[in-house]
Amino acid sequence: MFSRYCRSVLSVPATAPLRFTSCHRSGADMCVVDLEDSVSPHRKDEARQGAPEFFKDPSAPRCGIRVNAVTDPDGLRDLLALPHYPVRPSFVHLPKVESPRDIEIVDHVLGDDPPDLFAVIETPRGVQNLAAIAGAGSSLRGLIFGAADYAAALGIALDWEPLVAARAMVVNAARAAGLLAIDSPTFELGDVALVREEATKARRLGFSGKIAVHPRQVPVLTEVFSPDTDQLAHAGRIVAAGGNGVATVDGRMVGKPFFEESRRLLDEFGHPPA
Ligand code: GLV
Ligand code: MG
Repeated sequence: MFSRYCRSVLSVPATAPLRFTSCHRSGADMCVVDLEDSVSPHRKDEARQGAPEFFKDPSAPRCGIRVNAVTDPDGLRDLLALPHYPVRPSFVHLPKVESPRDIEIVDHVLGDDPPDLFAVIETPRGVQNLAAIAGAGSSLRGLIFGAADYAAALGIALDWEPLVAARAMVVNAARAAGLLAIDSPTFELGDVALVREEATKARRLGFSGKIAVHPRQVPVLTEVFSPDTDQLAHAGRIVAAGGNGVATVDGRMVGKPFFEESRRLLDEFGHPPA
């Protein structure tokens, strides 16, 4: 599913305030300030104190925060601080979610009007409990796959092929629950070609976007997770062929699911130039 909401999701450590502006100006659909694994354990308090600054730029795009896991005392401290931010994060990434209870705790702590929640699935238990997690809470908006933690938990290399099955499970659980699915970052900072290759594979599996760990990854992700002009033109021809029964468009038989998906694509990304 293409979605403008989360094609590129740029993350920056809360301990790197000098990089906040470049994150906001990167063109990413979402910007995330991180309190979890990009912050070393002895700097967690400093990160918590510095994070509210990230939300003060009114011209920034949608901005959110990755807290520590709720099963960790730092995660609870992070959550309890959120209601006191002068400007509220519009979403929260919850790492290492392993059961619906993790989501319910956060829903409860954040009260009546919680931000959008995204559960990061990155442990074997998280993958095992995907369906229950995806159905939990009322504010869950998406699932994120965390390849680095998942590969480490399995004791396997962080390569694409061994992780395809888990990725596909995350996408399916997300879609079954009407949620967005966002892929793990590509960590090779200097290899934009690899970012494009992995983003393209993630897109083909059904992810709507991917985390970026450097601003140079952002334009590639935005491009890969957007329909191109040929796809939009094709969708336009399907919609023009009508929504009743079946029709033939570009040599292919199309019916209801094709019409519906084409309509959704055009509604979100606009009609192609005439
Ligand atoms: C992200 O959190 C990852 O573990 O890949
Ligand atoms: Mg992780």
